[in-house]
Amino acid sequence: MISIKSPEITTRYLESEHNKGKQIGFIPTMGAIHKGHISLIERSTRENDVTVCSIFVNPKQFNEQKDLVHYPKPLAKDMEMLINAGVDLLFIPEVIGVYPADFNDADIDMDGLDHHIEGEHRPGHFQGVAKVVRRLFDIIKPTRAYFGQKDFQQTVVVRKLIQQFHPQTELVVCPIIREDSGLAFSSRNERLTSGERANAAFIFKSLQLLKSDLGHMDLSSALEKARLFIESHDGTSIDYLEAVDGYTMKVVRSMEEAEFIVVVTVVNYGGVRLLDNLYLKHS
Ligand code: PAJ
Repeated sequence: MISIKSPEITTRYLESEHNKGKQIGFIPTMGAIHKGHISLIERSTRENDVTVCSIFVNPKQFNEQKDLVHYPKPLAKDMEMLINAGVDLLFIPEVIGVYPADFNDADIDMDGLDHHIEGEHRPGHFQGVAKVVRRLFDIIKPTRAYFGQKDFQQTVVVRKLIQQFHPQTELVVCPIIREDSGLAFSSRNERLTSGERANAAFIFKSLQLLKSDLGHMDLSSALEKARLFIESHDGTSIDYLEAVDGYTMKVVRSMEEAEFIVVVTVVNYGGVRLLDNLYLKHS
């Protein structure tokens, strides 16, 4: 694996690979690599000639300065995991490289996608994600880009971005990788105690329960039951639990309202915001 800090050198290197007819798979990350990230990388190594991973803790997408400052940076361990997973190029830029003085910081039109659901709780977050992903795509020009279903709304935002600015790139959405308990892997899980971490599986269980309840209940009753199930666990509060149209993120009230329906949730537990989701209907 080679690692490069400079955006210009990364672009030149990958353009020469591209000119040789090589297909380039790209996995953007913020580091603190875990099995979820590794699953995206492994898929890319199967589908492309060259796999590029980036580690960049993007200041524009953090709402809380303290989260940015405390974001884990276990670089040596990350690099070892990336080498073992088969990454060819690690792009590890500095802030000034990603956002140079002449960076165009104007907001990107997302058709309101960035304001719904998670966007309501984290104003500006998806603009930050969109700006960094657009810039990274400009530098890397990937054939395919790999994103986790774990951050479902992020995949919807990136699809919109690709349509507007990078139609040559294919978006590949990869399944959620979970710990043995069922809790989705996340760098935030490290902040839970081991007891909380095992317990937190109730979030995924509530989504599975909801999906099976849809066999004999309408959507709003099943959602209400899932909310009660979550709240029956001590020390929890729900930011949201909603069924949404998987293309527009608009809330749906019945299973007939859309072709692609996803239940998305954020539960605060053990002082951590835990995200999860499950496809309820997908053609
Ligand atoms: P980060 O949180 O590091 O995640 C990088 C990628 O890994 C994202 O596409 C995310 O959805 C995926 N991922 C995380 N946990 C996963 C899991 N348990 N199973 C499957 N995939 C998982 O998401 C970001 O970084 C940033 O917003 C970024 C896209 C890099 C832009 O800064």
